Amino acid sequence: MKFFIDTANLNDIAEAQALGVLDGVTTNPSLMAKEGITGADNILAHYVKICELVEGDVSAEVISTDFEGMVKEGEALAALHPQIVVKLPLIADGIKACKYFSDKGIRTNVTLVFSPGQALLAAKAGATYVSPFIGRLDDISTDGLNLISEIRMIYDNYGFQTQILAASVRHTMHIIDCAKLGSDVMTGPLSAIKGLLKHPLTDSGLAQFLLDYQKGNK
Ligand code: E4P
Repeated sequence: MKFFIDTANLNDIAEAQALGVLDGVTTNPSLMAKEGITGADNILAHYVKICELVEGDVSAEVISTDFEGMVKEGEALAALHPQIVVKLPLIADGIKACKYFSDKGIRTNVTLVFSPGQALLAAKAGATYVSPFIGRLDDISTDGLNLISEIRMIYDNYGFQTQILAASVRHTMHIIDCAKLGSDVMTGPLSAIKGLLKHPLTDSGLAQFLLDYQKGNK
């Protein structure tokens, strides 16, 4: 499973990259705003900075909601850096734009996916990635992980190549559950990735090893 980090924070991205397990980055307009990145030029420059920090795919989201606007914006984003993946919302014009970009060989991430039917449409339009938002479904008492299973079944039934990118991952158990369900990718915060490191038996075992070494090497 690929690990993407879901942030526009350069320090978090650098820390995840340094851990050696990072395969890419996803951003969205809210994450950019959270980092105080505003204005078209600053936003574009920030995407380039992110691309220079990591080796993998970097999803950059369009703001337009009409086909022509998405195409114009997406082409400008894709021209920024070879690592850019154009992120498009799952609305009718987003699906049309996804088909347009996939026909041109430009990689896409179809976002704001909350149902298996939406995921089927994204795959039919040739999306590189589809982003089901599991945390936001959990937030409204709906089983987000079940959506991952349903999409996995549909894609496997027909051999769709679109990669399932579990998004809105909020904590470490989401990552483990997505891995069990065969999600191709997950995107989450640094805290969720670092949570995978933790086990009290690792800490106590290491403390004992070091203590025994000290005793034998005085
Ligand atoms: C996906 O690409 C989104 O950026 C993201 O995962 C949304 O997560 P949230 O629901 O925690 O905002």
